[in-house]
Amino acid sequence: MSQHPAHGKPLDQVDTPSLLVDLDRLEANIQRMADFAAEHTVALRPHIKTHKCPEVARLQREAGAVGFTCAKVSEAEVFARAGFTDLLIANQITGPVKIDRLTDLAREARLTAAVDNPDNLVNLDRACADKGVRLGVLVEVDLGMKRCGVQPGPAVLELAAQAEDLSHLDFRGLQAYEGHLVLLEDPDERAEQVREAFRPLEQVIADLEAAGLSPEMVSGGGTGTYDTAGAETPLTELQVGSYVFMDATYGPLRPEFAPALSVSSTVVSRPVPERLVTDAGLKALTSEFGWPELLGGIQAEMNYLSEEHGVLTLADPGRVELEAGDRVRFRPSHVCTTVNLHDQLIVHRDGRVVDVWPIAARGCVQ
Ligand SMILES: Cc1ncc(COP(=O)(O)O)c(C=O)c1O
Repeated sequence: MSQHPAHGKPLDQVDTPSLLVDLDRLEANIQRMADFAAEHTVALRPHIKTHKCPEVARLQREAGAVGFTCAKVSEAEVFARAGFTDLLIANQITGPVKIDRLTDLAREARLTAAVDNPDNLVNLDRACADKGVRLGVLVEVDLGMKRCGVQPGPAVLELAAQAEDLSHLDFRGLQAYEGHLVLLEDPDERAEQVREAFRPLEQVIADLEAAGLSPEMVSGGGTGTYDTAGAETPLTELQVGSYVFMDATYGPLRPEFAPALSVSSTVVSRPVPERLVTDAGLKALTSEFGWPELLGGIQAEMNYLSEEHGVLTLADPGRVELEAGDRVRFRPSHVCTTVNLHDQLIVHRDGRVVDVWPIAARGCVQ
């Protein structure tokens, strides 16, 4: 395979906007989470929605990941074909088109999907039977996030028993994601609320065990809550995603993980001293979690991002020498949606490009 033309170049010779990943920091983040998991005997099934990149998943697997979590069937297709064969799709797969695609993929990989509805179980089983494949299911329990999932209680047992009875489904356990708590600012309150949210799961698991339906896996956990979720709840595995790259939103909550991802950008204009205009707009950076952070110690307020421009007001224009053609970097406020805008990760160490990794599942939203 021919090397990417950026290989070996100093970072400032790579065109912008580009998505840059600091390899030392990435490796340290992966190792840190792996050490936590080993210490607390909880398995790691990292969520690939953050990086969408098989090369990053390979590093996670080398550090001990038992499998991977995907949000979408199309992501699972990419990862299965890249050699990752134990995949959880942490969402409900409904409707004939998606079920057809899922059950086709079940020929190639050991798949598990979340369920929260009896009709969906019947439809999944029928499609599996038609193709002669098996599918694992996790009954999703709503811990208070108010997204998908049944309430902790008899509905969990009913779905588990139904799945176990169906000929081509395997009841594998529970999915329980505390997504409503991952960004709580106060660490003590966050920890307490996580303990509280998972408490009803203890009875649910006891009831399942009494019915001979012991969950083989209980999957959940996010970067903001991984420590309490991994050490003080019934979770057997963590689906953490953002910790590999981090972002400006998670950064202050989780300083033990290093910010590894940035977006490089070129100043395209400084039409008046206080205004800085860059080439990184909404097609290179997302803003649903707030504005990206300008790095390099430059005090500036983001005015807006348009399609191809970032427009900032400098706090102290007299002390900033930037002019058109100079380069700046941004820390994304939400890494998962920013990564999805880019085709490749420019991997750097000591200021030079050491690799270029395709973001192979970029755009896989189906
Ligand atoms: C089902 C599920 N599991 C886990 C995560 C954890 O993600 P992160 O570690 O990025 O907070 C998410 C985030 O959206 C999710 O939707």
